[in-house]
Amino acid sequence: MTDRIRTICAHLPKVQSLADIGCDHGYMAQFALKNGLCEKVYISDISAGSLSKAEELLKEHVRAGRCVPVLADGMKGLPRDVGCVLIAGLGGEEIVRILEEGYIPEKFVLQPMKNSEKVRAYLVEKGCAITADYTFGKGYFYDLIAGEREGGADYTEWEIAFGRDNLLTRPAAFCGKVNKEKKKLRGYLARPDLQQKSRDEVLARLFTLEVITNALEDTE
Ligand SMILES: C[S@@+](CC[C@H](N)C(=O)[O-])C[C@H]1O[C@@H](n2cnc3c(N)ncnc32)[C@H](O)[C@@H]1O
Repeated sequence: MTDRIRTICAHLPKVQSLADIGCDHGYMAQFALKNGLCEKVYISDISAGSLSKAEELLKEHVRAGRCVPVLADGMKGLPRDVGCVLIAGLGGEEIVRILEEGYIPEKFVLQPMKNSEKVRAYLVEKGCAITADYTFGKGYFYDLIAGEREGGADYTEWEIAFGRDNLLTRPAAFCGKVNKEKKKLRGYLARPDLQQKSRDEVLARLFTLEVITNALEDTE
């Protein structure tokens, strides 16, 4: 298991049934079953090739009826009463689409690869409680967003943009992610062929990131 997968698994709650959407290898479903985090797991993937990897890994559990493979787009083919839905390694817009076309489960663990702010905005708009919302990793950075369907609280625009726990606890990974993006943006600015409109957008984003960096330093 990679560190990324280990971190995601650490957020899986104990539930009757779990669904791993976009399960691919199936390691997270395997972790949940092995560690008694669920009685039953649905492993779902849009790709037959990916799903068959997970099916192979979990074949004994499939035979025992504790693991149900579903070849489908998103949450299609899932029962409505799954206790926790895990969606990791997909883009934020795709995660929102999957939830929108499916349903918001009682608990969720999400790990968007990009556009995390769109996931937060959607969850907040739907009244969900976000209980963990932070960046992790080293070199490559990932966002983890976990929570529950009920009990939402207000989120500020900054929290939606960057993640509440990042702003409260300033984990090293978040600072690393911001610095990595600033470096990338400065690289764009150095390109002589950059169009004025793109230059303005890059400068605006860079300004926002500088404000965040300064705010984090001021609270040291
Ligand atoms: C990058 S892998 C992530 C695998 C695993 N969830 C993880 O985080 O390590 C993305 C997986 O999601 C699947 N996938 C992409 N879009 C999907 C969708 N709309 N519904 C279900 N699975 C999807 C892909 O086929 C692939 O197996």
